[in-house]
Amino acid sequence: MIYGVGTDLVDVIRIRKIIEKWGDRFIGRVYSHDEIDYCQKKAFPTIHFAARFAAKESFLKSLGIGLGMRVGLKDIELINNEQGSPFLKLHNRAEEMLREAGVTAVHVSLTHTRNYASAVVILEK
Ligand SMILES: CC(C)(COP(=O)(O)OP(=O)(O)OC[C@H]1O[C@@H](n2cnc3c(N)ncnc32)[C@H](O)[C@@H]1OP(=O)(O)O)[C@@H](O)C(=O)NCCC(=O)NCCS
Repeated sequence: MIYGVGTDLVDVIRIRKIIEKWGDRFIGRVYSHDEIDYCQKKAFPTIHFAARFAAKESFLKSLGIGLGMRVGLKDIELINNEQGSPFLKLHNRAEEMLREAGVTAVHVSLTHTRNYASAVVILEK
């Protein structure tokens, strides 16, 4: 059955401004090494950083919690498989909360344009 659903829409320009202001401090606090590698290899990295931010917030929403509520954004990692299809790899408190809730599968999908990035996350139990 569906346990939770979360969605988020991120303004790419807002993420661009945060990166311009905080640079590696923001990126290092929010994204894993693999996420950074993936985004930086793209023609427009900020779009992909924004999409990952949307995925992280969507995951929190799907669990019914928000930013700053015990789960660090870096513990919610978005990986792409060889076909480009995204999946979430959860660590630390994010992984523990899923286990405690009895979640058996996590689904994520991303979409983006030059200006907006969006994600949806569905938790199954
Ligand atoms: C999946 C696909 C429809 C995406 O459509 P799009 O309109 O170009 O792009 P969107 O903005 O809607 O979505 C992009 C996101 O789709 C996701 N995505 C990519 N390939 C995917 C796949 N095979 N299945 C599911 N999701 C996929 C990624 O998360 C990507 O964002 P990211 O690179 O930041 O992780 C398109 O990439 C596709 O058809 N891929 C499969 C075929 C393929 O690999 N072609 C390679 C070029 S010939």
